[in-house]
Amino acid sequence: MDLRTPEAPPTAEERFAVDSVLGPPESGWFGGERTPLDGHVALGGLAKARSRRHLLLPALHAVQEQVGWISLAALGYLCERLDLAPAEAYGVASAYALFTFEPAPPVVVHVCDDVACRAACGGDPTEELAARHGPPGSGTTVTWRPSPCLGHCEHGSAALVQKAGAGGGRASLAPFTAGDMDRLVALGPQVELEDLPVPLALVPQAGAEGSQLRLLRRVGRLDPSSLDAYRAAGGYEGLRRALEMGPSGVIAELEEAKLLGRGGAAFPTGAKWAAVARNPVRPHYFVANADESEPGTFKDRVLLDHDPYALLEALTIAGVTTGAEKGFVYLRGEYPVAAARLEHAAAEARNRGLLGSDVMGSGLRFDLEVRRGAGAYIAGEETALFNSLEGRRPEPRNKPPFPVDRGLFEKPTGVNNVETLLSVLEVLAMGAAAYARQGTPDSTGTRLFCLSGCVARPGLYEVPMGTTLGSLLGLAGGVAEGRSLRAVLLGGAAGSFVGPEDMDLPLSFEGVRAAGTTLGSGVVVVLDDTVDMTAFVGRVARFFRDESCGQCVPCRVGTQRQEEVLGRLVAGRPLGSVGDELALLADLDQVLRDASICGLGQTASSVVTSALRRGLLGNGALSGNGRQP
Ligand SMILES: Cc1cc2nc3c(=O)[nH]c(=O)nc-3n(C[C@H](O)[C@H](O)[C@H](O)COP(=O)(O)O)c2cc1C
Ligand code: SF4
Ligand code: FES
Repeated sequence: MDLRTPEAPPTAEERFAVDSVLGPPESGWFGGERTPLDGHVALGGLAKARSRRHLLLPALHAVQEQVGWISLAALGYLCERLDLAPAEAYGVASAYALFTFEPAPPVVVHVCDDVACRAACGGDPTEELAARHGPPGSGTTVTWRPSPCLGHCEHGSAALVQKAGAGGGRASLAPFTAGDMDRLVALGPQVELEDLPVPLALVPQAGAEGSQLRLLRRVGRLDPSSLDAYRAAGGYEGLRRALEMGPSGVIAELEEAKLLGRGGAAFPTGAKWAAVARNPVRPHYFVANADESEPGTFKDRVLLDHDPYALLEALTIAGVTTGAEKGFVYLRGEYPVAAARLEHAAAEARNRGLLGSDVMGSGLRFDLEVRRGAGAYIAGEETALFNSLEGRRPEPRNKPPFPVDRGLFEKPTGVNNVETLLSVLEVLAMGAAAYARQGTPDSTGTRLFCLSGCVARPGLYEVPMGTTLGSLLGLAGGVAEGRSLRAVLLGGAAGSFVGPEDMDLPLSFEGVRAAGTTLGSGVVVVLDDTVDMTAFVGRVARFFRDESCGQCVPCRVGTQRQEEVLGRLVAGRPLGSVGDELALLADLDQVLRDASICGLGQTASSVVTSALRRGLLGNGALSGNGRQP
């Protein structure tokens, strides 16, 4: 691609899309009409243009949504407006899967072909689509493309419909069948996104006898658009209590509750908040990490879709406790329902004085913005997320410095997963001592688990930490259709396999650590004896090769090599002997773990390695040589 500023001017539609985010250009120096005045003064100035770089991602979204693709001319106009080099802007835009740089049909259907949907539908869900509608990208008004997990895994199939132009936007369809695709093709650009059914949240424990849901207790029971309903159910009592207790009281409560982060790293929440709060550098920021892109994960989506005020309340508590006056919800771009509901909830909270310059009459200031990602798993890593919010490529930063010292816009920043933030509300509602009595001494509270694949009652489950894997599977009715269990993928693509012999495994941080596995983001994909494990593991290897940001060599090259070796092994065409190839995989595993900058590279070989260890590939026999030597 030629990365000089293009000669062709943007179309009126492209200008409109960019200006809808950035406002009209201030002068001929920054994309406006040249006037005689521009010969003498440059209104606005370069520093001002560059200070708005954080609006690059929202502006790219606007062009993609309005026009259906991002032309070089549109990119060039954005570069003029923000005083960016075209190569920089292209580098950012091309990191995201939801943006396209070639003319595309007005309706694009992204179809999940990832792990949970594969397990649930007994193969690659896109094969039938390809047979009926041609290869990905074909079609003049409606086309389809394969996609990694779309966060609706409990339905066993999912799609995201993206429509360009007036009345355009995004809508999720789950479950999604080839018949749905037929209907979309028949409707063409006439499809009305608001007519598509909103996917349901499957929470099988809701209303069940004896279930004592905490984090999920409002899901499906309250109107998610109603602030009054939320307050009538006790909403915003946590904020009131936090304001009464003051920052040190809240932090002491979180420390006593021993709340650990639910985003994957299990970092103590109280310690994180304390470190931001005591940092003398100002301003502080607080970010809710709602990027949720780990294959098999849908827990945050259920909370965001059905309990948006709870996230806003918790983020406000985080803000007033850590001294942050500005917060961000970094939301997965593939969650259109959550985006609309959070925006609505934020506007309502602002109108009622629960956000703004005088939060709940306390004299404290806190407000927040909802910013959408655009299809990049790595953007969920906290420092890549900061880069994304700043309008840079979503690449992880080296740590230290840690976010609590130098995070978003180089300032002290707290970042927590959605489930962690909602757990803060539970700590404040129950009191630290009562909270800590749930679960195990080292893993307190309850935990959400996303059950999908070949399970009788897929959905989102909430159980005390330390519940055994067998009890959790029992709650979900066990393996679907009474078939036998082959393996369970625990923790997602960054997790590993456990087997039928692990039913006593306690699902606590220390329990899974002792067993050499992880809870990750609470993924539990159940695999029965019909699942093609080779294709399944191959999909995970492809996921990491696709999603590596490419910044460091071990991960960029290692994920590629891992996929190639796996391909040769399962095709029965090893380079040298099977033993040579397995040794190479073991080498790659070591290098990825030791030398990658971030958690993506460090976990990219976990699933492959654990499948080999358990003899799950090629029916346990790789070209006759069996399991790992
Ligand atoms: C590749 C990668 C992707 C991640 N994606 C997410 C994510 O989608 N949501 C999330 O909360 N944390 C994600 N994390 C973890 C975050 O970096 C961070 O640890 C977390 O948001 C902190 O919140 P917690 O303390 O509440 O767990 C990811 C980490 C890595 C390495
Ligand atoms: S480990 Fe992979 S994803 Fe992480 S920074 Fe390196 S290349 Fe990027
Ligand atoms: S939506 Fe298909 S694996 Fe998650």
